Amino acid sequence: MTTIAILGSTGYTALELIKILLRHPNTKITALTSREDTRSVGLVHPSLSGRLDLSLENLSPKEIANRSECVFCCLPHTASAKIVPELLDYGTKVIDLGADYRLDTVEVFETWYAEKHPDSDRLGKVPYGLPELFRNQIIGTNLVANPGCYPTSAILPLVPLIKAGLIEPEDIIIDSKSGVSGAGRKPKLTTLYPECNENISAYNIGTHRHTPEIEQIITAASGKKTTVLFTPHLTPMDRGILSTIYSKPIRPVTQNELLKTLRNFYQNEPFVKIVEHLPSTKDVSGTNFVHITACVAGNRVITVSAIDNLIKGASGAAVQNFNLMFNYIETTALI
Ligand SMILES: NC(=O)c1ccc[n+]([C@@H]2O[C@H](COP(=O)([O-])OP(=O)(O)OC[C@H]3O[C@@H](n4cnc5c(N)ncnc54)[C@H](OP(=O)(O)O)[C@@H]3O)[C@@H](O)[C@H]2O)c1
Repeated sequence: MTTIAILGSTGYTALELIKILLRHPNTKITALTSREDTRSVGLVHPSLSGRLDLSLENLSPKEIANRSECVFCCLPHTASAKIVPELLDYGTKVIDLGADYRLDTVEVFETWYAEKHPDSDRLGKVPYGLPELFRNQIIGTNLVANPGCYPTSAILPLVPLIKAGLIEPEDIIIDSKSGVSGAGRKPKLTTLYPECNENISAYNIGTHRHTPEIEQIITAASGKKTTVLFTPHLTPMDRGILSTIYSKPIRPVTQNELLKTLRNFYQNEPFVKIVEHLPSTKDVSGTNFVHITACVAGNRVITVSAIDNLIKGASGAAVQNFNLMFNYIETTALI
């Protein structure tokens, strides 16, 4: 049995994490933190009523480490990196759902996040938590950088086709739509019901902070310094991400060749399904699956992927990483 602390327990990713871990036969949640909320978790998240007898607490890193062998940080960027060094020194393993350890260099982090990194020496040394690409690094590590939700939806379809030499790593356009839970639980003007209901809008064109994360992985896969054009949209759904990705073939390709390449690459992956129909967010809602397809149209290869931003895009991936780090069967509590 592994004892678990979840930091930022009032938020959406924490709620999903708790629900998944309650199904996990080898975990016991022993600490839930919040800076101010001290209510029982069943009051903070009524869907957990009667399922977990714990109240939220404002705990120091030492208190957290005393109670847990694994800490999931469901915190905004820079909040995790302020306490992760101390948690690691106490011997706990950490899975960070935020952005603090995803980027390899402090320059890129500080350019995109416009904040000083509190633990910059660790950048570039932390495995990126996409098991489908980095499983060997995740097994046995004590800290994982769980990927961003949009990057998961873009990287998984692109990397096999780039590695197979079928598409150019340059001139990639990623058009993504996300449900409103992607913005977290903290109220903001854009996520108020009258603003986002019956509405769809693009945001952060060319400036979204997931851009360098996608570029970092595409650059590593292609061996060429690569930039992407990434346009996110806010859509009137609770959850889900649909990414439609336009790339240029290096030589003439057929849909069959693209699908075969994707199927071969992911043949042993329990959570990646290569489908022939066009994926949609409802097909994967509440699951850790990603659905991917590929088509040829005009002079472009078009890949489409669907994930649940809160599961494969956050808490499900975090538990997949946890299972690898603690030597449990990778799919435990996720299928
Ligand atoms: N939502 C998604 O789809 C998604 C997907 C992938 C990754 N992520 C990442 O996962 C992390 C959590 O996301 P979320 O959607 O769960 O966010 P959220 O709903 O806004 O919850 C974040 C929690 O962190 C706590 N918090 C806020 N500011 C803090 C600070 N300065 N120091 C310490 N604690 C603070 C808050 O709890 P208290 O106010 O009670 O302390 C809050 O409940 C973020 O880094 C996010 O980017 C989110």
